[in-house]
Amino acid sequence: MCYSARVEVDSPMEEKTLRHSALVRVTHWLTVVAFAALLVSGAEIVISHPRFYWGETGNVNMQPWINLHIPSSRESVPTGYGYTMPDQNGWSRALHFQSAWLLVLTALAYGIGSAKNGHFWRDIFPASGKRSLRAMWDVVRRSLKRKAADGEDTHEYNAMQRVTYSVVIFVLFPLIIWTGLAMSPSFNAAFPFFVNVLGGRQTARTLHFLDTILLVVFLVVHVWMVYLAGFRKRVWAMIAGGEKEADVTALPEVQG
Ligand code: HEM
Repeated sequence: MCYSARVEVDSPMEEKTLRHSALVRVTHWLTVVAFAALLVSGAEIVISHPRFYWGETGNVNMQPWINLHIPSSRESVPTGYGYTMPDQNGWSRALHFQSAWLLVLTALAYGIGSAKNGHFWRDIFPASGKRSLRAMWDVVRRSLKRKAADGEDTHEYNAMQRVTYSVVIFVLFPLIIWTGLAMSPSFNAAFPFFVNVLGGRQTARTLHFLDTILLVVFLVVHVWMVYLAGFRKRVWAMIAGGEKEADVTALPEVQG
């Protein structure tokens, strides 16, 4: 977004303030594509062994920490079902790794760009005085009453969005990338510390799965909130840039 991203329209005097910068828009939709591909391929990978362990090792002879109790695509996994699912592991693993790299590169571009242009400080981190539970509850209450679409809150992200986006960007995404890399044998060999500190590769897989659940919960609530705030207007702004209504009137008047 950078709510203060400015583009020249016709002349240097006719400036328009964009709601979302090109960097935010491009990286947002690339993230959506990568995330969708990761979810589909990740689900296929989970089906090949729908049990999760804690520590360094895990196999069918061990008691799982989490058992999803769903059918598996491997006969060797004891699921209690009398059949196995079709094995789609080949393409799903290839797609998972390709989309993971797309996500990592997109996150790097977004992270470096937003740190440099001040987007994080200006638009994402909650403003002081708006970090309290009371401020969050106020946002939820007004969203549920559909007051967010009335205009007062549309110029910038509200307190709830800022906290949620901060957690997604600085906790959930780094964790999903870290735990994903920690499952790779070559990463393990090169940087054993980053795997050991998690407690082992099976712990990394379990945390990777739990983090995915949190991101899916975020996605559902995120899209619901966008719907409450006005789906077409907000999504179009995320595609075309939109306009920051608040500052337009603050631009200097053209003389003569
Ligand atoms: C099809 C699904 C999605 C739709 C329709 C959607 C829509 C939007 C819209 C409209 C905004 C701007 C909100 C506003 O101006 O008030 C936004 C911002 C954002 N979305 Fe999504 N989104 C989707 C999926 C995702 C996914 C999968 C993620 C990450 C897991 C995500 C993360 C974010 C973040 C972090 C922002 C803030 C970006 C910034 O300003 O830097 N979104 N989204």
